[in-house]
Amino acid sequence: MHEATKTGRNKGTHERPETSNVRGTGDVGIDVSSPRHTAVGTVIGNEEIQVSPPNDGSPTESSSPASASPATDIARRLTTDRRPRTQLDPAEVLRTLKPYITEIKEPAAMAVRDLDLFYGTSQALWNISLDIPAKKVTAFIGPSGCGKSTLLRSLNRMNDLIDDVRITGTIELEGKNINDRDVDVNMLRRRVGMVFQKSNPFPKSIFENVAYGQRIAGGTSNDEIRQIVEDSLQRVGLWSEVWNRLDSSALDLSGGQQQRLCIARAIAISPEIILMDEPCSALDPIATAKVEELIEELKHDYTIVIVTHNMQQAARVSDYTAFMWLGRVVEYTRTDQLFTNPIQPLTEDYITGRFG
Ligand SMILES: Nc1ncnc2c1ncn2[C@@H]1O[C@H](COP(=O)(O)OP(=O)(O)OP(=O)(O)O)[C@@H](O)[C@H]1O
Ligand SMILES: [Mg+2]
Repeated sequence: MHEATKTGRNKGTHERPETSNVRGTGDVGIDVSSPRHTAVGTVIGNEEIQVSPPNDGSPTESSSPASASPATDIARRLTTDRRPRTQLDPAEVLRTLKPYITEIKEPAAMAVRDLDLFYGTSQALWNISLDIPAKKVTAFIGPSGCGKSTLLRSLNRMNDLIDDVRITGTIELEGKNINDRDVDVNMLRRRVGMVFQKSNPFPKSIFENVAYGQRIAGGTSNDEIRQIVEDSLQRVGLWSEVWNRLDSSALDLSGGQQQRLCIARAIAISPEIILMDEPCSALDPIATAKVEELIEELKHDYTIVIVTHNMQQAARVSDYTAFMWLGRVVEYTRTDQLFTNPIQPLTEDYITGRFG
């Protein structure tokens, strides 16, 4: 269906994994006319032909110690990369951009195909095709305004709530396009739940926040609801903090507790997929660490898609990462590969802090 994108080969310490099952979604190829220098070497098109040390004397990949993890690798790059910030010419980059989209090996929970999205006449998403792997964490990263939230909201039709949104292409959940007329949106949102950037507990008790979805759906006894509330609060690590004040207002909880409460509320209706839009952006490092641990634990049972501005967070919590830019998915691949050895020069520039 899609033409395979050619995989470059690295001469540095990081040997790029074989990625034969790859498809590009764009209709234009990487610019092969001029060589360019990256942190790992010189690239002509996608083919890396030599390791060229940065001319400012900063350490090269081959001289630097082996990385402990993608997250520490990013931290090291951000502190050691002294090259000037890139001045991008968007029109020129778009002319030569060919998205690099890895075909995932795991079963897909959702499949996005040829997705375009317009706010009125303004196009916000362009020809996006990717699979969301089941029971894994997928991260969307990219500069502000690149379309992360728009893409995330498309996955459970939250964009329906915005006037004048038009979508073409398909988003399949178990083979069914979620935008088909006969799809019950409420049922879809029970299967694909959402946690927002700013925690948004209802002005109700802690108990009633978590019980809310079950009460709306009906058909569950009070005893069952009590059990579900306890299980959900246990799951997010809140039970031991709130068991003796379940009737207190949820608004009295700390910010981190409120966010975990919102996650408990989301899982109380047993979704298959949980979408999280910058769930930690308003939290301190300790609360952030708790939510990250929770994500790690939840992925055993749920498919998670997370938008984050924090690249270390994406590297820590996700299995796959999509780097977006100007409404396009530029690169989508395994997180360790994207952060330690990206295929696209644009991804390399973004994760080393050269733009965005
Ligand atoms: N309700 C809306 N109406 C019109 N345009 C919108 C709307 N929401 C977003 N956009 C536009 O769509 C584009 C993508 O926005 P989006 O919010 O998805 O970006 P983002 O990557 O989530 O950014 P951020 O990191 O700042 O949250 C932007 O150009 C934005 O201005
Ligand atoms: Mg956003």
